[in-house]
Amino acid sequence: MTSYKDLGLVNTKDLFKKAMSGKYALPAYNFNNMEQMQAIIQACVETKSPVILQVSAGARKYANQNILKNMARGAVEYAHELGYDIPIVLHLDHGDSFEICKDCIETGFSSVMIDGSHFPYDENVALTKKVCEFAHSQKDYVTVEGELGVLAGVEDDVSAEHSHYTQPSEVIDFVGKTKVDSLAISIGTSHGRAKFKPEQCTRNADGILIPPPLRFDILEEVEKQIPGFPIVLHGSSSVPIEYVHMIEKYGGKLTDSVGIPEEQLRKAAKSAVCKINIDSDGRLAMTALIRKVFIEKPDEFDPRKYLGPARDELKKLYAHKNQNVLGSAGQA
Ligand code: G3H
Ligand code: 13P
Ligand code: ZN
Repeated sequence: MTSYKDLGLVNTKDLFKKAMSGKYALPAYNFNNMEQMQAIIQACVETKSPVILQVSAGARKYANQNILKNMARGAVEYAHELGYDIPIVLHLDHGDSFEICKDCIETGFSSVMIDGSHFPYDENVALTKKVCEFAHSQKDYVTVEGELGVLAGVEDDVSAEHSHYTQPSEVIDFVGKTKVDSLAISIGTSHGRAKFKPEQCTRNADGILIPPPLRFDILEEVEKQIPGFPIVLHGSSSVPIEYVHMIEKYGGKLTDSVGIPEEQLRKAAKSAVCKINIDSDGRLAMTALIRKVFIEKPDEFDPRKYLGPARDELKKLYAHKNQNVLGSAGQA
């Protein structure tokens, strides 16, 4: 049994309180490997931003939960070594059972998500409540994120072809019964790099897909129901067209890519949205830079020579998000 405090980590409680009053959102970046973790920490130290390091079920399978936990401990020391101690949260992304949440809590995670959004309402309430009771009764309080409403897109163990927007009429009851610390809602974002079908979009003069706007009316209604309660947005990559073009220039194929425009995320970050999840944009940046090296330097076979430039690009991307999209820069 490891407590997150022994690893130098913090939960989301005070961070969300500050983000709510400061009108910004915390970055929640997924990581699976060392280069991603280093880039996240470099960017967050440089921009003086608090950060949530996110581990999905797939990341646990790929990299091993204990290794990821120790990387989070390393991240705390790395930030210190870089000269600025930022608050770091280690968060389970899309936990789909009580057991996985319990396992992560006992391993040293400071925050978990229990995603019961695909279950009938009462089952979602019961499962989320059970996780909250366990997490909140730990010696060091572990924060819990629940979800109401379903995002389209596919994650490892949680998938849905169609999204169902969050029903604002359910949120008071859900938060009251479960005692969650934050709530993920569905207002039109979705996971992955193709967030909308082309027929749901328009095209600009260059033929680039323009997505339909997020449902800010639902967000506002949710805020009215539970004023001051921390809201989370999943599926919030912007899918920068430059990376898509770069990947295609160097031999990839990513048909009909479209993400959430940055201005809309900036607007959301100024509301009760306190946490914004970003994974796909990092994947795109890494893939673009690795492909570039492979095509331009066909004789290169030292992984550091293609993972290094990918890491540098990732750092630039994350710093940009903190400064210009989430507003978390300068808040650590
Ligand atoms: O929400 C899902 C994240 O992008 C994690 O993706 O399950 O493929 O690691 P993954
Ligand atoms: P993206 O696929 O938009 O990056 O969303 C990531 C996410 O929601 C992780 O939980
Ligand atoms: Zn998600």
